[in-house]
Amino acid sequence: RTNHHWQQSSATPEQTPPRSQTLCTSREAYERAFPLYKQPVEVGCFSLDSQRRFFSDSRQMRYYVEPDRSPNFDLSDGYRERYVKRDENVKEKLDHILRWIVANRSKLKSKLSPDASCPLDFDFVTWRGHLTKLLTTPYETREGWLLAVTRFNGTLYISEVETEAARRERENRPERNQQMMYWGYKFEQYMCADKTYSEPDPSGVVNTNEAFCTVVQTRLTDHKLLFSGEVDCRDKDPDAPPPPACYVELKTSAEICTPKQRSNFHRFKLLKWWAQSFLPGVPRVVAGFRDHDGIVVSVETFQISKISQLIKNEYNCWKPTVCMNFCCDILSFVKREATEDNPSVVYLFSWEPHRDVTYSVHRDSQYSFLPDWYIKEMTC
Ligand code: A3P
Ligand code: MG
Ligand code: MG
Repeated sequence: RTNHHWQQSSATPEQTPPRSQTLCTSREAYERAFPLYKQPVEVGCFSLDSQRRFFSDSRQMRYYVEPDRSPNFDLSDGYRERYVKRDENVKEKLDHILRWIVANRSKLKSKLSPDASCPLDFDFVTWRGHLTKLLTTPYETREGWLLAVTRFNGTLYISEVETEAARRERENRPERNQQMMYWGYKFEQYMCADKTYSEPDPSGVVNTNEAFCTVVQTRLTDHKLLFSGEVDCRDKDPDAPPPPACYVELKTSAEICTPKQRSNFHRFKLLKWWAQSFLPGVPRVVAGFRDHDGIVVSVETFQISKISQLIKNEYNCWKPTVCMNFCCDILSFVKREATEDNPSVVYLFSWEPHRDVTYSVHRDSQYSFLPDWYIKEMTC
C-alpha cells in the first residue's frame, strides 16, 4: 500500500475512463437538481395552409372558445365526409423551420456580428416534438426513436427518422385507431374559432394539413435552442399575456371512471402533455374527456405548472427533473460526438427501450436532410 511509485498522473488514460460512445437512459441516473431552463421566448411563427404550403405569418392562428358547461361534442362527426388528412408518406424533415430561418435571418442575432446572418447563434435547431421524445425517453417502454444530427456552421440540426417499427404500425393502423386520430382534430374544431369575434364551425372540413407553429428560443443549461412547435390556439382576450403565455394546447382523453384509470392518466398521459407544453412555455392544456363512442362528456383545464403537484401521490411516478436532466445530457452527448461540421454528414442517434443511446455516422447517405437551398443560403 505504501508502494505508490507505479501510480500514474491523473491525465493518463489509465485514470481517465474513456468517454463512452453510448448514453445511459435509466431514470436513476438523472435524479438531480432541476437544470436551468430559461423561459422560452417566441421569436416568430409560421403557418401551413390547407395544401401544406408555408407562410411566414400567423394566418392559421385560431382562437380558444370556452365551451358550454356540459358540452356534447360528437368527435366522429364528419369523419367520412369532411376530413382531409395530411399525407404522412411525405417526410418534411426540418424544411419548414429552415424556410422560416431563411426568411427571418435578419431577426436572428449571429455569433459573429449582429448584421452577419451566419453562423446562427444556436447550438441546436429542431422540432419541439423531437425534444418531447427526448424528455420522455427515461420513461418510455414501448417506442424507440432515430434522430439524425448534422453539424453545419457550428449549429446542430436534429431531424427525426421514422423507425421501421413506427412505419409498420402506421401502415397497419387499425380503422379504430384512425378514427381516434380524427377525434383529436375534431375536438380542436369544436373549441376554436378562426377570428377573435367568431364562433367555432363544426360543420366545416377538418384538414390536418393546416397548422400554426410558434418558433421559440431558450436555453437548457449551456445549450442554446431554437425550435418550433405546432400550437392549437390562443386566448382571444386582447389583454392576454404575449405568446407563448397566451397559447392553449388542446387534448382529448378517455373519460376517467376508476382509480386505476386515474392513475394511468397521471402516469402516462400527463407525462406526454407536460413535456409537450412545458418545452415551448405553453401554460395550459384544455382536455376533452370522451366516452367510448367519441362523445365529449367533460372539459377540464390543466395548468402545466401544477402538473408536478398533481402526480406527486402516484407511486413510482415520472419526474420533470429526470426528463430535463436527460434532455440536457443527451444534448451534451450529441454536441460531444457530432464533431464534423459538414452538411452531408449525418450522425444517426438510435434508441430502443431498455437500451443505451448509440449512434452511427453516415456520409452522403439517404439520411442527409439539409436541403441544398438552405446550405447555399446559409453559406457565408
Ligand atoms: P389528441 O391530442 O387529442 O390526442 P396535438 O394534441 O399534439 O395538437 O395533436 C392533435 C391530434 O393529432 C391528437 O389529438 C391526435 O389525434 C393526433 N396525433 C398527434 N400525434 C399523434 C401521434 N403520434 N399518433 C397518433 N395521433 C396523433
Ligand atoms: Mg396540435
Ligand atoms: Mg393538441
